[in-house]
Amino acid sequence: MKRQTNHSETKAVRGAADLDKKNGPLATPIYQTSTFEVTDNDEQLRATRTDHFYTRYGNPTNTVAEKTIAELEGTEAALTFASGMGAITTTVMALVKSGGHVVAQRDIYGGVNKFLSQWLPKMGIETTFVDTIEYEQHARAIRPNTKLLYLESPTNPTLRIVNFKKVAALAKQHGLISMIDATFGTPINQHPAEFGIDLVMHSGTKYLGGHTDLICGAVAGRRALIERIWETRTTLGNCMDPHASWMLVRGLKTLAVRVARQNENALQVAEFLAEHAKVRSVNYPFLKSHPQYALAREQMAGGGGMVSFEVEGTGDDARRVSEAMRLFTLAPSLGGVESLVSIPVLTSHAMIPAEERARMGVTEQLIRLSVGIENADDLVADLEHALEVVVAPQQLSVK
Ligand SMILES: Cc1ncc(COP(=O)(O)O)c(C=O)c1O
Repeated sequence: MKRQTNHSETKAVRGAADLDKKNGPLATPIYQTSTFEVTDNDEQLRATRTDHFYTRYGNPTNTVAEKTIAELEGTEAALTFASGMGAITTTVMALVKSGGHVVAQRDIYGGVNKFLSQWLPKMGIETTFVDTIEYEQHARAIRPNTKLLYLESPTNPTLRIVNFKKVAALAKQHGLISMIDATFGTPINQHPAEFGIDLVMHSGTKYLGGHTDLICGAVAGRRALIERIWETRTTLGNCMDPHASWMLVRGLKTLAVRVARQNENALQVAEFLAEHAKVRSVNYPFLKSHPQYALAREQMAGGGGMVSFEVEGTGDDARRVSEAMRLFTLAPSLGGVESLVSIPVLTSHAMIPAEERARMGVTEQLIRLSVGIENADDLVADLEHALEVVVAPQQLSVK
């Protein structure tokens, strides 16, 4: 692991600033080129594995984004991808061959569940899904051909917290590669690699980009692993475009201040919801009532910007509440400066069968909030107003 020199706030702004000192501009230049000129064929051969050969292999603007992410995660290296799903599918395909086996926690992003359960079997790779926080189940599911332990924390949309130390130790004990989707956690609130997790993945579309104008993904880890993944990425071809990388680099500079504000806003929103008569349950890692509050405080610097809650009512009530909000915009995705609301059974988890969703605690009444950087009192007022559309149980019984 790299020596930690600066704090995350500094790394986010200055991460790879000295990459190319000969280029005068303070802002990272966009190398908007597909290819690079060489002086002779010897140089051509030397250039193949560098970021001055062909942009599907690498590009200097992409390198700045990758180095900054590696700095933030405290890993030797990182790679960027055309999307978060691109990062996940490429990494799994790079590390698990036909005949291999994956152990994955049950609470994961719906698209990944679909990839593991419906796509990987076509390539002769099986996945066993286990209860997210029952580590005995993780251990029992490991077979001689298991290669990968696939994790996510905090989980989407139920905000469960995975014990990094325990899963990293389990993976080491059985010679598996551990990989975690840390999109909800951000490299400001948590550093899974410090606990021994091998690969830290992000949908950069969310907090890293931060402005809801970009689709990208990233994986950070030891150089040897990242090089294996690089080989597969160049073959599958889901690299980032340099212009998109430039937007990612720009977004990363404000990551720490955005996330600090989102941590504060989301805690205020969660505390408000926890007291509301028309709210059945609230999921937020830094609420004292969260079942893993102590663990969250131990391994996270902030609770993050995501909150989910169940309305006291039906799925229709949840839909009506989400549509009554004015500041929380009804849209999928998360992690941007603006607050969003979505109903997981209709969006992120729509592709998962209903009985599997029920086992994950993803009910029709569940509403997911991505809390932005607006004024927290305004956000609370918006929720207060929207929840008026639910007829509370006590009001029903009076009638
Ligand atoms: C937790 C999580 N992981 C991965 C993804 C996939 O990322 P992308 O949409 O950038 O492909 C998402 C998308 O919503 C997500 O929420």
